[in-house]
Amino acid sequence: MAEKLLFFLFLCLPYFCLASNVTYDHRSLIIDGQRKLLISASIHYPRSVPAMWPGLVATAKEGGLDVIETYVFWNGHELSPGNYYFEGRYDLVKFVKIVQQAGLYLILRIGPFVAAEWNFGGLPVWLHYVPGTVFRTDNEPFKSHMKNFTTLIVNLMKQEKLFASQGGPIILAQIENEYGYVESDYGDGGKAYAMWAANMAVSQDTGVPWIMGQQDDAPDPVINTCNSFYCDQFTPNSANKPKIWTENWPGWFKTFGSRNPHRPPEDVAFSVARFFQKGGSLQNYYVYHGGTNFGRTAGGPFITTSYDYDAPIDEYGLARLPKWSHLKELHKAIKLCEHALLKSEPTVLSLGPLQEAHIYAESSGACAAFIANMDGENDKVVDFQNVSYHLPAWSVSILPDCKNVAYNTAKVGSQTSIVEMVSENLHSSDKSSENLKWDIYMEKAGVWQGADFVMDSLVDHINTTKDSTDYLWYTISVQVDQGEKFLSNGRNPTLMVESKGHALLAFVNQELQASASGSASDIKFKFESPITLEAGKNEIALLSMTVGLQNGEPFYEFVGAGLTSVKIDGFNNGTLDLSSSTWTYKIGLEGEHLNIYKPDGLNNVKWISTSNPPKNQPLTWYKAVVDPPSGGDPVGLDMIHMGKGQAWLNGEPIGRYWPRTSSINDECPSTCNYRGKFNPDKCDTGCGEPTQRWYHVPRSWFRPSGNILVIFEEKGGDPTKISFSRRVVTGLCGLVSEDFPTTDFESWDKNSKYNSEAKPVLRLICPKGTLISSVKFASFGIPSGTCGAYLKGSCDYPNSISVVEKICLNKNKCTVALSGENFGKDICPGLTRKLAVEVACS
Ligand code: GAL
Repeated sequence: MAEKLLFFLFLCLPYFCLASNVTYDHRSLIIDGQRKLLISASIHYPRSVPAMWPGLVATAKEGGLDVIETYVFWNGHELSPGNYYFEGRYDLVKFVKIVQQAGLYLILRIGPFVAAEWNFGGLPVWLHYVPGTVFRTDNEPFKSHMKNFTTLIVNLMKQEKLFASQGGPIILAQIENEYGYVESDYGDGGKAYAMWAANMAVSQDTGVPWIMGQQDDAPDPVINTCNSFYCDQFTPNSANKPKIWTENWPGWFKTFGSRNPHRPPEDVAFSVARFFQKGGSLQNYYVYHGGTNFGRTAGGPFITTSYDYDAPIDEYGLARLPKWSHLKELHKAIKLCEHALLKSEPTVLSLGPLQEAHIYAESSGACAAFIANMDGENDKVVDFQNVSYHLPAWSVSILPDCKNVAYNTAKVGSQTSIVEMVSENLHSSDKSSENLKWDIYMEKAGVWQGADFVMDSLVDHINTTKDSTDYLWYTISVQVDQGEKFLSNGRNPTLMVESKGHALLAFVNQELQASASGSASDIKFKFESPITLEAGKNEIALLSMTVGLQNGEPFYEFVGAGLTSVKIDGFNNGTLDLSSSTWTYKIGLEGEHLNIYKPDGLNNVKWISTSNPPKNQPLTWYKAVVDPPSGGDPVGLDMIHMGKGQAWLNGEPIGRYWPRTSSINDECPSTCNYRGKFNPDKCDTGCGEPTQRWYHVPRSWFRPSGNILVIFEEKGGDPTKISFSRRVVTGLCGLVSEDFPTTDFESWDKNSKYNSEAKPVLRLICPKGTLISSVKFASFGIPSGTCGAYLKGSCDYPNSISVVEKICLNKNKCTVALSGENFGKDICPGLTRKLAVEVACS
């Protein structure tokens, strides 16, 4: 190991890295003359923090990944024309070098349009306001800016010698993103632009191939690639291009107010195995670690701050088990077949109407086979080369020697971890957060420090703020005559508002009257609400809010937001239409303008100190000195008792919070059936619950003491109930069956030979520094159920608990063989026995 490291260091001392030659043929990428079968992981650098990068990359490497893939986020790098930022979370060079140091390759998806549930799809909002610009079509200002940025990134990588052709890790680069879907919407300009983008990319002369995702007409030598939940059916547009899958979605994203999607590990593994079975050469998980949309980087609109994605590494950086480990085993099994897969053409055998085998046999005698059962309902026993194999529904078995099954995608033998958010006070030294001292500052509803402009109409929100803030005040005063009947008859007038999106608070004379918002499925909204008006002058202040800008679709940059109609009904003369009246506008909040959430702006206002902060108080800034939560576990900020707003720690942007709940009437299945085609609505959880309760606060943002938490609450909440939570693995589950392939790959690793002595085992590993402290459930026999809800079956070894306790208790990890030696003589004759265990870690 040390030798290997030295060798690598020697190869990669600055300027001494050996250049690699990356080309391709119909089968795969070819690196230095060798065909490669590659498994890749998307990790987006600004969705975590530099302190997490080495750990995330190491966890990907341990998971059996060869390549890290990332987009480049233009609007995070070019804050205004020519004003570049490559520090902190945006230190792209540092990220690429961390990948290089880990000995992995990198795919750089420059875009620069990326979609990605990222604000404005990654393109700078200022670019929309460069006169004459239309995004993503044959448009000179757009092309010129896109070319400048692409060249800037390519040159930055070249300067640092990061392309494989220079000895660096970058083996592929991507231009544009899924343009094929929208090309025809742009008429003639679409095709011309796509071809221009490809040529512009190729002319960058990086020495590595370029790819275009979902772009059937990608011209040679650019490789068109596939993005979907399944890509086994995909064929590239030319016989000399390899089959590459740039986005396999192992889960899905969330929007505020929606359910929580999950993609079962069995189905992710099935899709990957099918892809390699059918000649795939490079597969990328989009995303392998999703992370967090910090600050105002979420797109949508309405994308949550969490971009967890049910990915193999969770938002907080912990391996998600069993997904991560089930895929790790899959990667090992595929790698055992790599040689045969790349060196031979397959023979395809039909084994039934929905069953097929691909056999990759080399002349040397080496052989690997993939056997698939595409039946979404029924298991099947198939005969393959005179041996019968049981194939669960919707599964692939991988046979690295064409005889023995190393892996089946539907048999998940690796442990599940039980993860909890363990609450801790903001002030860990105090017993109760209620003793915490808060500083508060209240925003005025409406114009502060003078108006920005006055206009006889309702303006578009985004064209006005240019996304410098989420907030835009629309204010107007309404004169009410003494003679209005509603002043005496108790029947309040009705405020009627229509908005293109995304959310709104309505104040009259500084009092909050109503709040409303659209949703991801319908961004615009309208509402009617009774309001209280007084005789004389009434100040109406409507706070329009964006919740992330749209990140895709043709001409999305022209989609607006904000108010389109404001009326008040109930006057003696009927309805008062204010839509074309004189409105006074103010962009943003005073606290934002004065930077009071940043360390150097904290003192720009006079805060009021109190240990009894106001509750349900709109437009309020809260500030407190907080302690870092104990230990080293990842941290989430629990905002379930707050309304909606944004939070910062030590000036770092935690992001938008909004415990908006999904509808109780949404569908959440009680169990998730992995069989059959997946779609993002198939295995949802969280019906009737807040879409997001906890907000990741990276550990590296904390100092040992004196941490300043700042919150801007828009509509009202209870700050005394805000707490931190540590993300802790408190227990483990595992269920292994006698008919599972052995979980021990050691005998396969060396020479792809099968060791028939090896038997399935159940392995449990608690997090570092913790021990298996109790066995909550153990049954050897025919148990059923899922983690947390296992049930004993009609055959159950009574000694199950004591056997597992003896082997596992007070150990950090243990391995329990499903053997007679452990459990005694067979008391379930004729049955396939299973072992199910749940333990606690502490
Ligand atoms: C793809 C797109 C990605 C991401 C994904 C969904 O269409 O290329 O950037 O948006 O969908 O997560």
